[in-house]
Amino acid sequence: MSLHPLLPAGYRLVLCETVGSTNDEAKRLARSGAEAGTLLWALEQTAGRGRRGREWVSPRGNFYASVVERPACRFDRAAQLGFVAALAVGDALAGLVPELGKLACKWPNDVLIQGRKIAGILLESEGDEGGSLGFLVVGVGINLVSAPIGAEFPATSIAGEGHPPPEPAVVLEAFVHHFDFWARCWRDQGFAPVRAAWRARASGLGEPIRVRLEGATLRGRFADIDEQGVLLLDTPDGRRHISAGDVFPPG
Ligand code: BTN
Repeated sequence: MSLHPLLPAGYRLVLCETVGSTNDEAKRLARSGAEAGTLLWALEQTAGRGRRGREWVSPRGNFYASVVERPACRFDRAAQLGFVAALAVGDALAGLVPELGKLACKWPNDVLIQGRKIAGILLESEGDEGGSLGFLVVGVGINLVSAPIGAEFPATSIAGEGHPPPEPAVVLEAFVHHFDFWARCWRDQGFAPVRAAWRARASGLGEPIRVRLEGATLRGRFADIDEQGVLLLDTPDGRRHISAGDVFPPG
């Protein structure tokens, strides 16, 4: 396996064969001044983390990377880079393994194949001394050779779908290429084209869903995402605007 992937201009690769979490390592570097485009890549993680503090089981063979970004905007807008990353994962996998068929995006940032999760994205940010966004880390995990069994939301991998999994280094090149494309698009044109591409791939749009929030579960119809990326849920009590939560089938 090549450990020297070809990356677009502006990206600086930091390879850690084994690391606790690429997000933690990227945050550590960002705190000490690492520039936007700093890219942490690990072959395995010993303390991989998912959203809401969940564990992200991270054996060798799957893909783990985190990008440092320093967008000049507030966190709620910077969080749109999660949609950028989901599009990039989808484009990378579709290009590398066309036999996978339709890849879907599940709000906010998961990528699904046949209704099962193949990739997850973890955004973490810190402010600067003036209270503005200091940096954002976009962490991406893709199940290439294996997926966790018994996860709350069913998971799959490329191998589990019956296809030869690409090497993580090949996935890194493809992911960063597409991430660079969509991030430029977002920086130059705003969220509208990213939103349009994401909606075209959205899982469950217009359908009944269940959304788990901190301390409550809501049921309703997934009406849309708004111009910021907020989920619009039509419930019997009216429309709810949801900026953080976990989406499930209605159950
Ligand atoms: C989720 O779906 O809950 C998000 C999963 C994010 C996992 C990736 S793997 C690379 C990066 N490092 C981590 O510890 N987590 C993210």
